[in-house]
Amino acid sequence: MLLRFITSGESHGKGLIGIVEQMPAGVEIGEEDINRELQRRQKGYGRGGRMKIESDRVEVFSGIRNGYSLGSPIAYLIRNQDFENWQEIMAAGECKRHEEKVLNRPRPGHADLAGAMKYNQADMRNILERASARETAARVAAGAIFKKLLESFNIRVYSQVKSIGPVQAKTWQVNEQNWQDLLEKVDESPLHLVDTEKESLMMEAIDQARAKGESLGGSFEVGVIGMPPGLGSHTSWESRLDSQISALLMSIPAIKAVEIGEGIANSAKPGSRVHDEIFYNEEEGLHRKSNRAGGIEGGISNGETVWARAYMKPIPTLYKPLTSVNTKSWQEEKADIERSDICAVPAAAIVGESMLAFVIARAFLEKFSGDSLDEIRKSYSVYQAYLKRVWKWEKI
Ligand SMILES: Cc1cc2nc3c(=O)[nH]c(=O)nc-3n(C[C@H](O)[C@H](O)[C@H](O)COP(=O)(O)O)c2cc1C
Repeated sequence: MLLRFITSGESHGKGLIGIVEQMPAGVEIGEEDINRELQRRQKGYGRGGRMKIESDRVEVFSGIRNGYSLGSPIAYLIRNQDFENWQEIMAAGECKRHEEKVLNRPRPGHADLAGAMKYNQADMRNILERASARETAARVAAGAIFKKLLESFNIRVYSQVKSIGPVQAKTWQVNEQNWQDLLEKVDESPLHLVDTEKESLMMEAIDQARAKGESLGGSFEVGVIGMPPGLGSHTSWESRLDSQISALLMSIPAIKAVEIGEGIANSAKPGSRVHDEIFYNEEEGLHRKSNRAGGIEGGISNGETVWARAYMKPIPTLYKPLTSVNTKSWQEEKADIERSDICAVPAAAIVGESMLAFVIARAFLEKFSGDSLDEIRKSYSVYQAYLKRVWKWEKI
């Protein structure tokens, strides 16, 4: 069986639950490793009031003992601190009806209407509660676990914000030499970026959006340093690494476009200015001087940094709401408002790291399978020796 995880939980329910299955035994994981990632997701200029209430902390229920994974399912809980204000409304037993919390003017761009039609729900809160991106906290907790596995093999996941609304920032070309600097820089930035000169322009754009009852989207880059060649496969559509990365980045709420490497710019250029030429010398072995392909050819990692960009639409809840329909009176009215972020691109980038960590960890375990970290290490070192011997591959 392949590595997998599921999440459950409603935005104002008791909390979020996650279960990670098929993690090998012997990976060092502490609750603090998970809490650190949860805190990274909660930051970012442009977030709403909710982030001030919630200070996410994980409680691990199973699968980790004495600081190491056991090989059994890892189950965890992140409590919603706001639940105490919602107990009567979100109870599993009989709920008290609070008219002001009933949602029947669906927000354009949110799951409210489509979900209500699909699940036959008069109160669209029954859709909102699960469609809310609060769920992504449970993904980030799982991502922290996958990152710990990857770190055992010196594989690191990073992200950096590229744009907020119309404001574009410079990004770094990330490599083995500068990834640590990048991590420090983006974690210090209120917008999770390296181009600090653009920070104030972006914050201004967010402030203006807030003042006008508007919202903003943007884009981020997410990547993996220390990638071995050979993850993913050209042999079937579902094993292609690029298709898995795109699908999982697209699974993040509000992400509406994904490109692998320079995918979009490449589509307008001649092949000679796109494809990354292959070089060889004694010192470096096989190597490239560019990485416009995003480290993947034929659905297989080629040993370069794997990187992709994800594009986020503006947040659908607007404090100056768009036209909608009241599904009780069938009159056109302004959409409902639920406490909301104005811009959440920095947080989405952290969720992006988690989803990418999942794809890479799953592909890694598929190739170097084993029940314990030691077993996987052995199989990885055999592969490394083979790459060096046959392909003069020096990087990993
Ligand atoms: C980290 C993050 C935070 C978000 N915060 C909000 C929010 O506060 N309010 C809101 O309306 N949508 C927010 N969204 C976007 C919605 O969850 C998303 O647009 C909605 O679920 C509909 O899904 P779709 O946009 O993929 O169609 C957020 C998304 C992410 C990734």
